[in-house]
Parts: sequence; structure tokens; C-alpha cells
Amino acid sequence: MNNTPNMVAIISGGTRGLGAAYAEVLLERGWRVCVFARRDSEFVQRANANPEWGGRFYSEQLDVRDSAGTKKLVQTVTDHWGQIDLLVNNAGISFPMLIALATDEYLEAHLDTNLSGAIQMTRNVVQGMMARRRGKIINITSVVGFRGYKGLAAYSASKAGLDAATRCLSRELGPAGITVNAIAPGFIPTEMTDHMPEDVRQWNLSNTPLGRLATIEDYIPPFLFLVGDGSNFITGQTLVVDGGLTA
Ligand SMILES: NC(=O)c1ccc[n+]([C@@H]2O[C@H](COP(=O)([O-])OP(=O)(O)OC[C@H]3O[C@@H](n4cnc5c(N)ncnc54)[C@H](OP(=O)(O)O)[C@@H]3O)[C@@H](O)[C@H]2O)c1
Repeated sequence: MNNTPNMVAIISGGTRGLGAAYAEVLLERGWRVCVFARRDSEFVQRANANPEWGGRFYSEQLDVRDSAGTKKLVQTVTDHWGQIDLLVNNAGISFPMLIALATDEYLEAHLDTNLSGAIQMTRNVVQGMMARRRGKIINITSVVGFRGYKGLAAYSASKAGLDAATRCLSRELGPAGITVNAIAPGFIPTEMTDHMPEDVRQWNLSNTPLGRLATIEDYIPPFLFLVGDGSNFITGQTLVVDGGLTA
């Protein structure tokens, strides 16, 4: 799949962190890439200014919870670039909060962004993929979806839900030639984890058998494997990339 020029990807939350790294690695390989998130970013400005990516990069400021907006975005990308080969459901939020203190808004924000947003985006792209009988969907979940962490019940439920959806959708979409897999990262130093207390960082470091925290670069080869032809017979799986944290 990665050997064909002009492939088209949509990456939710592809403006910074993991999503931006995925956007960049695809752009470097000749893909046409659309990213969206609520805010502008340094990566988006850099990508727009890069002449080598001219006409192959498109970004919108859009909330993944805006169902009508994401539907329109998928239509815009399809109209301009003719197809969507890859959807990466990467947009996510994570704010630790004890359940006794969690407001309705807090709970809804996690479930709507991390889970419903991803499922709605999937619904938006599959008709085109089904018509072409090809496509790949990669959901970014988390080890927090299958291990307990204090203060992360809403986040954990959203990611466990997305892993479950990955399995169901692989059965539903496999006959149409579409694979659906997930990558479950452990702790990665990004803006998402910046606000987490130092003891969380230390706990992850001391409980990771490989003896260090992840870098974003650790997540590129597993991503390219799932994007590429080498994974064409793999679907419904969650690839855990956590340095052994959950072993
Ligand atoms: N960092 C980790 O330790 C870790 C571990 C396991 C899993 N993950 C998962 O990996 C993915 C990427 O995380 P990251 O570490 O790269 O985090 P990040 O740096 O905070 O990036 C998150 C991205 O999602 C976007 N986003 C958040 N809410 C959104 C919304 N409502 N609509 C559209 N876009 C939205 C953000 O942009 P805006 O804020 O501008 O909207 C940003 O582009 C997430 O799904 C996360 O749960 C991360």
C-alpha cells in the first residue's frame, strides 16, 4: 500500500505529537495528507511552508466531535484528491481526574473525543473505501485501555471502547477489503503527558522493562508496518508498543 504514489491519508489530531509525526513520515513518502484539530500548530505552519509538500498537505481547524464538520471534511478531501486510502483516528485528550470530582462535561469530552469521534470518522470514510474495495484504518488507543490507572476511568473506557470497535469493524469491513487495526502506546512524553505529575513519569520509567521512556520515533516503524503491504493480512488487532510496560 505504501508503494503507490499519491496515496491519501486523513489523520485526526495530526497537528502535533504523534499525529504530526505520522503526517510528516507519510508526506516524506509522497502521500497526500489531510490533518485536522481544534487549533493551528507549529507543524501545520511548517508543512504549509514546505514547497516539497505543496498541494499534498491540507489542514483544517475542526473539532472531531463536530459530526457534520468531519463529514464535510471527508467530502472535501474526496472531491479534491479522489480517494481516501488511510484513516488514522489519533485525536485524543487525557486529563487525570478522580471520579468523585468528574463533571458531566469532563466525562463527555473524553468519550466524545476519543471514542465517538473516531467511530464517526470511520463511518465517514468507509463508503468510499468500500466502493474502491481497499483502505486501512488505524486507531490510536492506549495501554490504559486494558490496565487500571487511578484517575483515568473516562480515558481508559474510551480507549478500551476503541479497541473493541477495532475488532468489530475488522469483521464488518474485512469482506470489503478494508483492514482495521490499533496501536496502543505506553507513556510518551508529548503535550498530552506534559501536565502529568513527575511521579507518573517516574512510575512509567521504573516499570518499563526496556529501561527508558518511549520517544515519538519509537512509534514510526510500527505505524509504517500497519500502513504498508506487509500487514495486509492483519486486521482486528491492537499492536502494543510500550517497551514491555504491560508484559
Ligand atoms: N502521549 C502518551 O503518553 C500517549 C499514550 C497512549 C496513547 N496516546 C494516544 O496517542 C494519541 C496522540 O496523543 P499525543 O500524545 O500525540 O497527544 P497531543 O500531543 O496532546 O496531541 C493530541 C492531538 O489531538 C488533537 N485533538 C484533541 N482534541 C481534539 C478534538 N476535540 N478535535 C480534534 N482534534 C483534537 C490535538 O489538537 P487540538 O488540541 O488543537 O485539538 C492534537 O493535535 C491520542 O489518541 C492519545 O490518547 C498517547
